[in-house]
Amino acid sequence: MSPEHVVSRFRVRPAEPRDCPEILRLIKELAAYENMPNAVKITETDLLRDGFGSRPFFHCLVAEVSKQEDMQDADVVGFAMYYYTYDPWIGRLLYLEDFYVMDEFRGWGIGTELLKRLSQIAIETHCNCMHFLVVVWNKPSIEYYMRRGASDLSTEEGWHLFRFDKENLIRMASGE
Ligand SMILES: CC(C)(COP(=O)(O)OP(=O)(O)OC[C@H]1O[C@@H](n2cnc3c(N)ncnc32)[C@H](O)[C@@H]1OP(=O)(O)O)[C@@H](O)C(=O)NCCC(=O)NCCS
Repeated sequence: MSPEHVVSRFRVRPAEPRDCPEILRLIKELAAYENMPNAVKITETDLLRDGFGSRPFFHCLVAEVSKQEDMQDADVVGFAMYYYTYDPWIGRLLYLEDFYVMDEFRGWGIGTELLKRLSQIAIETHCNCMHFLVVVWNKPSIEYYMRRGASDLSTEEGWHLFRFDKENLIRMASGE
């Protein structure tokens, strides 16, 4: 069988420092998908420092595909970025920040495998739920999550996400 006829396989693994360039590429692709291509301000250096230093601010799973059984020459095609947070009513939470699979690899079950791994991590770390944001027009993803049992906290409980930007932080920090 010629190499182009060999079926590609995928695997999900924890991200390593060497994955930062590909993670940044996927973050930018997701931002473009969300119609905010210029919103990504972080750099590979930020990712390296914030995800792989002595006190990681995020964790990441990557999905890679390869035509070879030993996953040599694998390409990163998807990722899930997450971190831990805390809710005084619920306790430990796993917060899914970014979740993305490249268009041409969707429908292979990669997203399902990423969610399975995230669920296992959440359970192992005694998290009581997983939170995430979805922009209101992203109907395919809303349906994808709903089919897996997610509830919409904005419509069911009326929560809105707010932000203090850096300017506000500086103003408040200075006591103005
Ligand atoms: C959401 C997302 C990560 C899911 O990844 P995925 O690898 O396609 O997930 P799966 O293969 O496990 O499942 C795909 C689902 O779409 C369906 N599907 C089939 N072919 C598809 C295709 N070519 N493209 C998209 N979805 C397809 C599958 O039937 C499946 O539905 P079901 O399992 O709920 O019945 C991916 O669609 C994505 O990156 N979307 C764009 C970015 C995005 O919206 N991210 C989430 C932001 S909150």
